[in-house]
Amino acid sequence: MKLTVVGGGSTYTPELIDGFARLRDTLPIEELVLVDPAADRLELVGGLARRIFAKQDHPGVITTTGDLDAGVEGADAVLLQLRVGGQAARNDDETWPLTCGCVGQETTGAGGLAKALRTVPVVLDIAERVRRTNPDAWIIDFTNPVGIVTRALLSAGHKAVGLCNVAIGFQRRFAAMLDVTPGQVHLDHVGLNHLTWETGVRLGGPQGEDVLPRLIADHGDAIASSLSLPRPLLDRLGVVPSYYLRYFYAHDEVVRELGTKPSRAAEVAAMEKELLAMYGDPALDEKPALLAKRGGAFYSEAAVDLAAALLAGGGSPYQVVNTLNRGTLPFLPDDAVIEVQASVGRDGASPLPVPKLDPLYAGLIANVTTYEDLALDAALRGGRDRVFKALLSHPLIGQYEYAEALTDELISHNREHLTWA
Ligand code: G6P
Ligand code: MN
Repeated sequence: MKLTVVGGGSTYTPELIDGFARLRDTLPIEELVLVDPAADRLELVGGLARRIFAKQDHPGVITTTGDLDAGVEGADAVLLQLRVGGQAARNDDETWPLTCGCVGQETTGAGGLAKALRTVPVVLDIAERVRRTNPDAWIIDFTNPVGIVTRALLSAGHKAVGLCNVAIGFQRRFAAMLDVTPGQVHLDHVGLNHLTWETGVRLGGPQGEDVLPRLIADHGDAIASSLSLPRPLLDRLGVVPSYYLRYFYAHDEVVRELGTKPSRAAEVAAMEKELLAMYGDPALDEKPALLAKRGGAFYSEAAVDLAAALLAGGGSPYQVVNTLNRGTLPFLPDDAVIEVQASVGRDGASPLPVPKLDPLYAGLIANVTTYEDLALDAALRGGRDRVFKALLSHPLIGQYEYAEALTDELISHNREHLTWA
């Protein structure tokens, strides 16, 4: 089995490699290629990756290359984890929306739109090149904004599944609170990428007992504080929103906070410098503890599980993925991309049925789906007007004066990445 990671020079890669090494029985990798245009990072990350495999006696061969076409040749699956414009572009996404009093975040609101506009054309080009060499290869997309990027891939007819670590994070934390193994916890997870709610927490599988009310009663304080949301809100909703919902439910509070501290991009850039220095140490042969301060916890487990299901029909029977709606949420178009539990196998992902959703969540999901639709249109066809309409449709923007000003900001900060601007 051959896997290729595009964006393999990411400081996240050792997280992935660690998962590949630990979970080799689930996913027997023979060849792993890390592709990245940044040769210096690739060398550091590739060196550590090889040492992690060697320490754990993993027989797989790890190679690195800057040549995408050579890297994807013969791959059974291609994992996308790239970041167009790097942390500098992310820093912009997190900063300029604040000038209008709107949240500055890399996947939500105006910053998320900027990221989508930069990323969609690049990812589609990569996917086209993968398809030319390996029409049967699966594309697993971690590249944000995962919902919009996955929709772009699927609309262009690619064999793609989108992945995020939010659900597996909840599964692991809830399992610890309930004192059961993660495999015993089945989440009723519903929404769009970075706009999800856990509406049930079942023991044993999709038909198991729903222990969410008990979980909130017994551990509500810990759950609420991990989301920086008030406990009474959790009690009133009776479901667990993902931490990305804080950008909606506590928007103005978040904007005030963001104005008083360095951006996450600045924090991450500093961490990355430190991580790369560590990766260069030939004595280091495991993922360093500092990596746990990044947002990607458990993402290697989720990736291994998904690749095992898509390539070998193994892995967990149900997995939370980003895939086509196809009637699962009846209030959305069939070609919307949703993030839900699905059964996953060699033929791809099929969402499990979702019971009728409370309008409190359905309404926001429908609104953001419309935004994602307009965002994809702007990403594919460009133009100031399409950017403006996508911003106007976003529930965190909405007013024409903000949409106008943010359109100008978005274009001026991203000109080098937008062919039409
Ligand atoms: C979580 C999200 C990812 C996101 C990451 C950011 O893992 O699910 O989509 O990329 O957080 O983490 P960072 O350490 O870069 O802030
Ligand atoms: Mn994510």
